[in-house]
Formats: sequence, structure tokens, C-alpha cells
Amino acid sequence: MTPRLLVRDLEQLATPAGREAPLRGRALGEVEVLEDAYVLCRGDTIEAVGRMRDLPSLDGDVEELSARGLCAVPGLVDCHTHTAFGGDRVDEFSLRAGGASYEELHARGGGILSTVRATRAAGADGLRDAVRRHASWMRAHGTTTFEGKSGYGLDRETELASLWAVRESGGVPTWLGAHAVPPEFDGDTDAYLDFALGDVLPEAAKVAEAADVFLERGAFDATQARRYLEACRDAGLALRLHGDQFTEQGAIPLAVELGARSVDHLEATGDAGVRDLAASDVVGVLLPASALFLGRPMPPARALVDAGAAVALATDFNPGSAFCESLPLCCSLAATQLRLSPAEALSACTVNAAHVLERSDRLGRLAPGYRADLVLLDVPDWRYLAYHLGGDLVERTIVAGELP
Ligand code: NIG
Ligand code: FE
Repeated sequence: MTPRLLVRDLEQLATPAGREAPLRGRALGEVEVLEDAYVLCRGDTIEAVGRMRDLPSLDGDVEELSARGLCAVPGLVDCHTHTAFGGDRVDEFSLRAGGASYEELHARGGGILSTVRATRAAGADGLRDAVRRHASWMRAHGTTTFEGKSGYGLDRETELASLWAVRESGGVPTWLGAHAVPPEFDGDTDAYLDFALGDVLPEAAKVAEAADVFLERGAFDATQARRYLEACRDAGLALRLHGDQFTEQGAIPLAVELGARSVDHLEATGDAGVRDLAASDVVGVLLPASALFLGRPMPPARALVDAGAAVALATDFNPGSAFCESLPLCCSLAATQLRLSPAEALSACTVNAAHVLERSDRLGRLAPGYRADLVLLDVPDWRYLAYHLGGDLVERTIVAGELP
């Protein structure tokens, strides 16, 4: 008999409505709220949700969990993290606090390249430990599914070890082979791409689900990004881009043309970019913790949603531009900085984020047939998820029907 778990007496249950994905426009803010609710799980799947007064009598063995005073939301989905790294950037953080800019530090060989040195030095075992530790931090904040990028190895061995470390920790691996040009290529970006696409891609494509590129001044230009992405697409990977973070370099038109899954960042996106993204199937991934951490402008989230674009919300967890693993904090930033409602923020880091990872048929909602991933919040109203800035809200996280 498959074990059953009844989470009963919930103060509130909140879930994005319907079964569609991605949610756009008004539908992004349509969250269904049940008061005095239950969730019944059978094995790893939700069997039923409803109000306590409608709970049928249950035959057979059912484990019960009282959730009196708690609210349930779907397990949170973090669709953009750089969790595979060694070391930290606390020295650089302190320099930035004193006025040095992120781009200056990057140009001086600090920034991403300093994490590349530490990540190579960590080795496969060190990386596995690091990703496991980072995943446990995310879980403590209610994240039940995370994507994790490579991109701090930039040699064959460390890139592949990064992807395996993400996969072995239960994450969804993305090959960020075009994050920076490592020092041994002496600034020769095309020679680095020859190496990455010739020597790393064939193996990376066996582990990763998607490929990602940093399309930006001082990183990869649109021609190089196109070359990288086309080769990755031909190897069977889905496509993602870091685009419009500091400057617009053609990321949105390229993403639309190549049928990418997402363009992430968008802090520098102008009106034409908003229009083009809204008219496409490419998801705009909003990373407000990164904009906050670097003191950059926020992405035009309200304009994107109002224009009909599909948006998701993610942490961008990494040691340099967003040392933040908390999606609830990102929900607060969405409400206070991006002018999204708590409901829009919830849909953006559940069903729409699951869509970016091609898992929206199973993840991102509390409804029959979805995976039994629930976050129980110790709050009187589920909107505290966005309201309580930096609050310690998560009482318990249930993954695939298993109590922690
Ligand atoms: O998404 N922009 C490029 N990559 C990361 C930051 C990497 C780093 O600073 O280590 C980002 O912000
Ligand atoms: Fe990123």
C-alpha cells in the first residue's frame, strides 16, 4: 500500500489557480485561497485538497499531520542559481561596500574569475559538499526544486564535476559554459569557445538539461552567444541567457529567434525589449536580489507583466552578485521593488519557474496529480510570504510526500 499523509487543519492553503503554464497578465495574480483546509498525499503525489468540512472519511492507514495555525503554499521552485562554487567573495563584497564597482572588479581579474580559482581548487568532492550545503540552505527557505548552473570551472573536469554535483544533490543542472573566458585563454574568446564546444559540450550535454550564456559587455557578445547557443541546441539542450544585466546587447532578439526557454536579469531592458519579450514564448526571469545586492536598477517587472510577458522569479544565488538563497525574501523584493502583488510573486516562483524547468505538469501547484511538495509557513495569512521582509517563516517543508 502506498503510504498516505494527511496535512490537516491548515489555516489557509494558497495555490496558483488553474492548470495552465506559464501564467501571464491577470492570470499571474490569480491565486486560489482555501481557509481551514487539508492536503491529502498518496506517496509522492497530491491526491486531494479541500476544506476540512468536506474531508471524506478515509479508509486504511493514513498518517496525519496537524497544521493548525499554519499556511501551505506549493514547494518553491528556484529556476536560476549558481550553486556550484568554491570559496566566497566576502573580501570583494567589503570592497564594493567601500565604493568599488562589480564591473571594475571583474575587469581586474576579480569577480567571477576569483571564484573560478576557488572552484577549481575545491575538486569534485569539495564541490559536491558545497552544492549539498547550499541546497540545504535553500530547502530551509522552502525551495523544493532548484536549478543549478556550472560556470565557475570553465575547464572540462570542473565543469562536468559541477554539473554532476548539482544533479547528485537533486538539482536540475544547466551548463553555463559561456560565463567568462578563463585566464589560460588570454582573452581569446573564440579559442575558448572552440575548446568549450569541442571538448566539454559532448559530455556536458549528457548531464545538463539546458545551456546558458552571459551575453554582456566584457563577457560574450551576440555573435559568440549565438555560436554557443546554436551548438548547444544541436546537442539537445534547452537554451537560457543571462541578458540585459548591465547593458542591452541583443539578448532578447537572440532568445526569441532561437526559441530559448528564458532570458534572465533584464535590469537594463528598455521598452522595445519589453514588447518583444511579451510577444514571445520566452520567459523573463526576474532576479531582484541580484539587483539589490549590486545596487543596480530593478528590472521592469510591472511593465513586463502588464504587456503580457511570462515572468518567473528566482534568487540568482551565487557568491558575487547575489549571496541570497531565500525565495521568500525575493517575494518581498518583488512586492516592494518590482510592484508585483504577493499573488503574482507566488505564481512567479512556483508554476512559472516550474515552466522554465519544463516541469509545470508536476510542480508549482497544490492540486491533485502534482508532486506533493508543500511549504508550511508559521503565519496567519499566506501573504506574509512577501510581507514579512526577511522573516523566519518556514515551519516545515514536505518534499514528494515525505516529512522531514
Ligand atoms: O547571474 N552575471 C553573471 N553571472 C552571475 C554572477 C556571477 C558572479 O558574480 O560570480 C549573475 O549575476
Ligand atoms: Fe545568474
